[in-house]
Amino acid sequence: MNELLLIAGIFIAVLIFFRQFVRGAQCKSKTKLHGKTVIVTGSNTGIGKATAVELAMRGARVILACRNQVRGEAAVAVVKRESGSKNVVLMHLDLASLKSVRSFAQTFLKSEERLDILINNAGVFAQGTTEDGLGLMFGVNHIGHFLLTNLLLERMKESAPSRIVTVSSNLHNLGNLDLDCLRTHKEFGMGDSLIDIFKIYSHSKLCNVLFTHELAKKLQGTNVTCYSLHPGLYLTNAILV
Ligand SMILES: NC(=O)c1ccc[n+]([C@@H]2O[C@H](COP(=O)([O-])OP(=O)(O)OC[C@H]3O[C@@H](n4cnc5c(N)ncnc54)[C@H](OP(=O)(O)O)[C@@H]3O)[C@@H](O)[C@H]2O)c1
Ligand SMILES: *[C@@H]1O[C@H](CO)[C@@H](O)[C@H](O)[C@H]1NC(C)=O
Repeated sequence: MNELLLIAGIFIAVLIFFRQFVRGAQCKSKTKLHGKTVIVTGSNTGIGKATAVELAMRGARVILACRNQVRGEAAVAVVKRESGSKNVVLMHLDLASLKSVRSFAQTFLKSEERLDILINNAGVFAQGTTEDGLGLMFGVNHIGHFLLTNLLLERMKESAPSRIVTVSSNLHNLGNLDLDCLRTHKEFGMGDSLIDIFKIYSHSKLCNVLFTHELAKKLQGTNVTCYSLHPGLYLTNAILV
């Protein structure tokens, strides 16, 4: 009898773990998005591409913001085919370059009238530095998106109600921010071992959450709302992180 209880207990624990951390929540909304414009960063593969397909299927105009032209064009073709929508556009964005972020924003603001949803999805789990000498994970996962969001904010206010979604990770729970280090080392969080990379990634994902909280506060009353999330675990390129 006790063994049966134990087995049942373990089964329930595994189920809860799976639902909580692996499967994540599921979106049951049937909302259509005709007339809405959406940007998804890092949408040539993985979660970003799947998101782009879903939003295009719902009628949104979807801008794939990608760093690589060839991979980006291939993704546009796939998103168009899978969604059955022709309203899918590629724009170049390399979040590891603040110059590129600025030029993306300029191009976007010139050519697009509105921005209803910004999805800050791109993410890296790798060591290195950005063009501006920032740590790669800090620079791409947080700072690049921070600048991008700020440059697009006025247009989002004009398009309100609009929303900013930043894809974080459950690993933000393991992150912390050393503000002294942040002041003195642009490369915030360096180190080569896998455990260092894991930690720095977690810090960058905590930045995503804190940024969302602070921005949400600042935007109260504007009808621009902010969200961060853990997408669930998927075997994409950024395996299980
Ligand atoms: N997969 C998971 O289980 C999991 C769990 C928790 C959180 N997340 C988060 O979910 C998000 C998407 O992850 P994923 O699993 O879909 O990863 P992925 O398959 O590796 O895709 C990452 C995307 O980000 C792009 N990217 C990387 N560096 C960039 C840069 N400098 N400028 C612009 N785009 C850049 C990549 O472009 P390239 O193809 O050119 O490299 C790719 O399109 C990330 O923020 C990740 O942290 C994922
Ligand atoms: C926010 O949305 C509500 C409901 O649609 C509207 O009444 C209000 O005027 C909006 N506020 C701003 C600042 O746009």
